[in-house]
Amino acid sequence: MASSSSRLLTAAILLSVLAAASASAGSYCVPGWAIPHNPLPSCRWYVTSRTCGIGPRLPLPELRRRCCRELADIVTYCRCAALSILMDGAIPLGPDAQLEGRLEDLPGCPREVQRRFAATLITEAECNLSTISGVAECPWILGGEQTVPSK
Ligand SMILES: *[C@@H]1O[C@H](CO)[C@@H](O)[C@H](O)[C@H]1NC(C)=O
Repeated sequence: MASSSSRLLTAAILLSVLAAASASAGSYCVPGWAIPHNPLPSCRWYVTSRTCGIGPRLPLPELRRRCCRELADIVTYCRCAALSILMDGAIPLGPDAQLEGRLEDLPGCPREVQRRFAATLITEAECNLSTISGVAECPWILGGEQTVPSK
């Protein structure tokens, strides 16, 4: 008797957790859940190197290789979200959560240029990775820009 009611309780809790997790796709692709905190450190360097020549003294193909490995490690469903976090940060789940992960401002390196390049990281020419929606680029990381990606 006791064990079956506790099983029921467990099932009810599990269901509510699942419901909460699926309530919004955005609440799953967050730092600390499907995406690491401060995700894609090598992609940050790759983006700033490619767009502004700011980065470690490593050949670009090597930087790209490291970036692509990090991006490939992120679950397909959340890759574009991870790139969006790289550009704009995100607020993780939790009681005292604060915006984190935003690519820092670099003087003389326009964010919109970085953003446009970051949106192409999943493409065949860069990391050649699939996303869940099959888009060619990650359009929604373009933020306020009205640019519609070609292709
Ligand atoms: C991209 O990935 C696809 C599927 O894995 C593969 O067939 C294709 O050859 C790859 N393209 C490049 C440029 O590596």
